[in-house]
Amino acid sequence: MPETKTISNESAAGNPYRSMAARVEDVIDESPAIKTLILEPAEDFSFLAGQFVQLSIPGFGEAPFTPSSSPHIRERLEVTIMEAGRLTSRIHRCRPGDVIGLRGPYGRAYPLDRFAGKEIILVGGGVGLAPLRALFLALVHELDRFERVTLCAGARTPEDMIYKPLVLDRWRKIGPRVALRLSVDKVPEGASWEDKVGVVTVTLDGLKPGPENCVAVVCGPPVMMKFVTFRLAADFNLPPSAIYLSMEKNMSCGFGKCGHCRLGPYFVCQEGPVLTFEEVKDLPDIWD
Ligand SMILES: Cc1cc2nc3c(=O)[nH]c(=O)nc-3n(C[C@H](O)[C@H](O)[C@H](O)COP(=O)(O)OP(=O)(O)OC[C@H]3O[C@@H](n4cnc5c(N)ncnc54)[C@H](O)[C@@H]3O)c2cc1C
Ligand code: FES
Repeated sequence: MPETKTISNESAAGNPYRSMAARVEDVIDESPAIKTLILEPAEDFSFLAGQFVQLSIPGFGEAPFTPSSSPHIRERLEVTIMEAGRLTSRIHRCRPGDVIGLRGPYGRAYPLDRFAGKEIILVGGGVGLAPLRALFLALVHELDRFERVTLCAGARTPEDMIYKPLVLDRWRKIGPRVALRLSVDKVPEGASWEDKVGVVTVTLDGLKPGPENCVAVVCGPPVMMKFVTFRLAADFNLPPSAIYLSMEKNMSCGFGKCGHCRLGPYFVCQEGPVLTFEEVKDLPDIWD
């Protein structure tokens, strides 16, 4: 994959670990385990879809997250966060007015120039829909450049599906070149759900992309990425170079110094997190 333009907000003091302050403007409950924080960075900040940031709270630590808002909005940033452990539990307790640390952006973004003129299929599972939201909004921002955008998203139950009001209402109405396909694993008794039921691969049923003019982007838990990738390759004959994966490996520094994120020859924080299946398919343990 060719180099994509990477922007970075380097600290004036030259300390690459320095965080800027980001004020929490609002906290949105997306699902029982997932919240979106709307952040107002104290300094100039911008990112490209697919890049990640490091968020920190003193005494609780720091972790990587991928902005979920439109890269075209500069004055604020949204990050959608699933509660997983110590830091994310503390972030979930943030309230409007609180201040957290923000540094980045880091990593390689989705190569939108390579997507030009193509049919684009985005497949997200659970909180994996968050990075795809930033990409989806970036694609829709200049929809004329692309043939068609299909967003496929899966969640465990209807209440676990994130961005409900946006997904179900606004995104569906964007136009004929944008399609939404949603699924949930199961519908508990009494819950309402009008889309597909089954694991996220059911959202691919009936799609007929031309393999020579299609790219797919997959983000979610490793097992979900594995099954979606194999289905895209086997059923749609997509070449490995046309399947883009978000490799969420453990990270520490975020800028190529510590080695925590090594995956085969790659420093995922710098050469990823967006990597093609072609680039990683022969490495061991990529789905762990
Ligand atoms: C590039 C990148 C982008 C990410 N973007 C997002 C995002 O937009 N939203 C989001 O909710 N999460 C995202 N993550 C995952 C997020 O960084 C972890 O959930 C977070 O580090 C957990 O921190 P913690 O202190 O709360 O949990 P910890 O106490 O560190 O861990 C709790 C549990 O979560 C697991 N865990 C820790 N880190 C990861 C990880 N990287 N991937 C999977 N499981 C992990 C641990 O193995 C453990 O079981 C991203 C990760 C990477 C590498
Ligand atoms: S996270 Fe430190 S080298 Fe990648």
